[in-house]
Formats: sequence, C-alpha cells, structure tokens
Amino acid sequence: MDCRNEIAVVHNGIIENYDYLKLKLEKDGHVFKSETDTEVLAHLIEKYFHGNLESAVMEALKVVEGTYGIAVISSRDPQKIVAARRGSPLILGIGNQEYFITSDVSASLAHTRDVVYLDDNEVAILTKNGYETKTVQNVSTYKKVEEVLWNIDMIEKGGYAHFMLKEIHEQPQALRNAMRGRIDFTDGTITLGGLISREKELLETKRIVVVACGTSWHAGIVTEYMMEELLRIPVEVEYASEFRYRNPVIESNTLVIAISQSGETADTLAAMREAKHKGAKVLSICNVVGSTIAREADCGIYLHIGPEIGVASTKAFTAQITVLYLFAMHLMRLRNILTQSLPDMAQHIKSIPEKIQSILQREGEIVEIARRYKDTEHALYLGRGYNYPVALEGALKLKEISYIHAEGYPAAEMKHGPIALITKDMPVIFIATQDSVYAKVLSNIEEVKSRSGKVIAIATEGDGHIAGKVDHVFYIPKTSDVLTPLLSVIPLQLLAYHMAVMRGCNVDKPRNLAKSVTVE
Ligand code: AGP
Repeated sequence: MDCRNEIAVVHNGIIENYDYLKLKLEKDGHVFKSETDTEVLAHLIEKYFHGNLESAVMEALKVVEGTYGIAVISSRDPQKIVAARRGSPLILGIGNQEYFITSDVSASLAHTRDVVYLDDNEVAILTKNGYETKTVQNVSTYKKVEEVLWNIDMIEKGGYAHFMLKEIHEQPQALRNAMRGRIDFTDGTITLGGLISREKELLETKRIVVVACGTSWHAGIVTEYMMEELLRIPVEVEYASEFRYRNPVIESNTLVIAISQSGETADTLAAMREAKHKGAKVLSICNVVGSTIAREADCGIYLHIGPEIGVASTKAFTAQITVLYLFAMHLMRLRNILTQSLPDMAQHIKSIPEKIQSILQREGEIVEIARRYKDTEHALYLGRGYNYPVALEGALKLKEISYIHAEGYPAAEMKHGPIALITKDMPVIFIATQDSVYAKVLSNIEEVKSRSGKVIAIATEGDGHIAGKVDHVFYIPKTSDVLTPLLSVIPLQLLAYHMAVMRGCNVDKPRNLAKSVTVE
C-alpha cells in the first residue's frame, strides 16, 4: 500500500482507539509521518476510499471510538468538503454561495448569521452547488437553518484591553438581558419560555442533581444553597466527570440541571446523557443557543448574555446564578411556597445590576491591592455559606489566568489543615459580608491575623467593624444573602484580572486552557 498524500483532515477531539487502528493500518502498509491521532483518520479514510469521499469517511468513522469534529478534503474527489461530528461541536455557516465549517458560531459570524448545527454521528457534504446532511449510516437528514442573534461587535473587544475585562464590565447589562422579559418586578411573576408545559414535571420533582464543571460547578453550589433554602428540595452538586462514571442513583422524580456556558463541555454532556438514560428529566442552563447540551436536554433556560470569549468565565457565572434565582422563584410560585416574599425577591434582583456597576466604578481600589500582591506565589480564599462557592470561584479565577497557586475553602475548614499554610507573605482573601455567619468569619480572620497572615476582606458597605481587623478591605453594597455571590465575586474577578495583567500573562488565552473543554 503506498500512501498517496491525497487526503487532508482537520480534527477537533480525541480518537481513543487510535493506537489499535494505527497498528492495523501500518500492517496494511500505511506509512505515518506523525504521532497524532488525526493522521490515523486520514489513513483510515484512504483505506476505504474507492472514488467517493463521503462514503470513505462514513466507513472510516464506523470503526473509530472517541470524539471528533472533522473536515476532510481529497485531491481524488476535489469538488467537495466532507464534515462530521461525534462529541465535538460542528456548525455549518450558510453564506451567500459560500459555506463555513466551524466549532463555534462566532468563527463565521463576520460572514453569515445563518447556521446549521450538526448532531452527533451526522455527516455534511458541501459542494459548490450546496450542501446535504446524512447520518454516518448514509441516511439523509433534514436540518433547520437557524439565525444567530449575536452580532459581530459582540465578539470584538469594544475598546477593552481584553475580552475578560470587557465581560466583567458587561455584567450589569448582561444580567438585565438575562432577566429581560422573564420577571415582573412588581409581583415577582416569572415567565420562562423554555419551561412552558413542564409544570407537572417540576411539581413532581423530589430531588435535584446539578452536573457541571469548573465555574459552572461553582454556580451549582450556589444553586444548592439557594434551592434548599427557598424550596426545601434536596439538592446535590456533582462534578460531571465523576457523576458520569459512578453509576449514580437517579429516580424518575429527579431533576438534573446541567449548567454549561458553552453547552459543549464533554463531561457535562456525558453526565446529562447518563442521567437521561437513567430516567431523569434534564434542565439545561446554557449560554450558546443551539449548543449540544441545550438541544439534547428536555428543557432549558438560555442566559442570553451574548458570547463569552475570555477563557476565564465571568458574566456567565453571575448570569447562571441570576437565571437559577428566577427558576427558584418560578418553582416557589408553582409550589405555592412563600409566595408573599416574591415581590421583595424581585426588587432584590432588580437592584443587582446597578450595585455591580457601583463596584466596577471602584476598580482602582482593586488595582492597588493587585499591585501589592502580584508577586505572591500562593493565595487562600475563604468564605462561608453563599460565599463559600465564591471563595472557590475567586481561587479558580486567580489560578487559571495568573498561574498563582490559589485554593478556596469553607472558612471553618482552616483549622483542619490549611492554617498550616499561613505565612506573613501569603494573602488570605476572606469574603466577610454581613450575613448570617459573619461573626464566625470574623473569628476565622482573627485566627489568620494571630499567625501574622495578610488579610484582604470583601465586606459590606457600612461595616465599621472589620477595617481594624484586616490589612485591606473592599466594600460591596448590601443585598440578600442568596444574591450576595453576584456582588462578592466582582472584586475577585477584577483582582485576578489585574494580577494576571501585571504578571504579563495572556489573560484571554491562558496556557493549557480552552474555552470549551470538548474532550474528556
Ligand atoms: C472557568 O473560568 C473555566 N474556563 C472553566 O472552569 C469552565 O467554567 C468549565 O470548563 C465549564 O465550562 P462550561 O460552563 O462551558 O461547561
């Protein structure tokens, strides 16, 4: 067999059985030039090529295990491009006499807003006369052309130095957009289009399981505290990567909430599929319209906050909490729980955007703290209650864009080990807002100070007590405990951003990270 260098493949994903396939192909005489799994695809397609490129691709994909989003061309069938997907997103941009194959709609947005979302195990064949879609078993499929409602300036930086900074500052408007048309701020009535005709299932829900990764998982913990406090429904939050493999217990009245900004995170997608397989109803909380998780869920709520380009998630986190707060209010009305408090809850969430704006206007205070600690190699984030997931989120923000080792903990956990880390040089960031556990957090601060630790506190405006107990304090407006994460996270986002910039890090594209983790 002489390999003829006539087939080229672009591939996003992981071919899990590529070792086995490569050995077989080499036995057939194929000669490899690289160690990549992608090259195995090219030789496999060549093996099955008998004049028709899509037939060869379909045959090859039948023996492939793993995930792929691919585009294939061949000099022996030159008038076409063949695309296919399984587990990695793939979108066709439908232009005027031109087509685009992308893994994200923003890539073709400058040329067209019309897109077709391929599903798993689908193939698209594009020629100058148009395109058609089929299954890998060569059965034609019909695909609706959908319009992307984002526009090009949404994916530009808009004068900001980085997408991340733009998206931090977009949060007041992003949360207004997330609430638009969904809440009556007078009586607290909620309208969620994605849940119409789901009332029966929502009423029967006896348990909620949240599956997510990273920042979305932190939003899941806020959801757990929120739903259990407001609705008295048991909630568990699971790392999607753990949930998918541990044969979890799921009953028919379990509601699984899949939280994912991109809607393409492989572990969250797999966890959702596992939950559905076990009989759960799945609600998706996604930002990218038409994403795989959104399309495969039983119902969903989109964030509607525009594209989030920066790898470090910021506005998606606050928007996820916002729409889940609306969802909780919706369930309270459905289940007739504390409905008298809904008008006040509506007023609380209504005031959040302007409160975030007031924090953003004091960004200079955060810059000063960032300048003081930019050279630290370690940091500890501590919080209790609703601020515990914020501590986790603040630590994740710092570590993923500045590469400083940062850990988040429940503040009380300090004495079970982390307090050994305290030195006079290490900053310890406490989220110490005046909530139901404030006094407990103050005593944790004193434990750190008595070991000569440096303490930065995120505190409530008007708290005249804390300044004398810490090294730095940044005040945020008062709000309800359940909404505090929407405010306490903002200074932590800014702190991570400015420390990373001062360290010369690539804030929007941190090393080793991708915006959407579409592989295991
Ligand atoms: C957060 O800043 C990270 N970029 C990462 O943890 C992210 O939240 C995680 O990969 C989940 O992404 P998703 O929300 O798109 O599923």
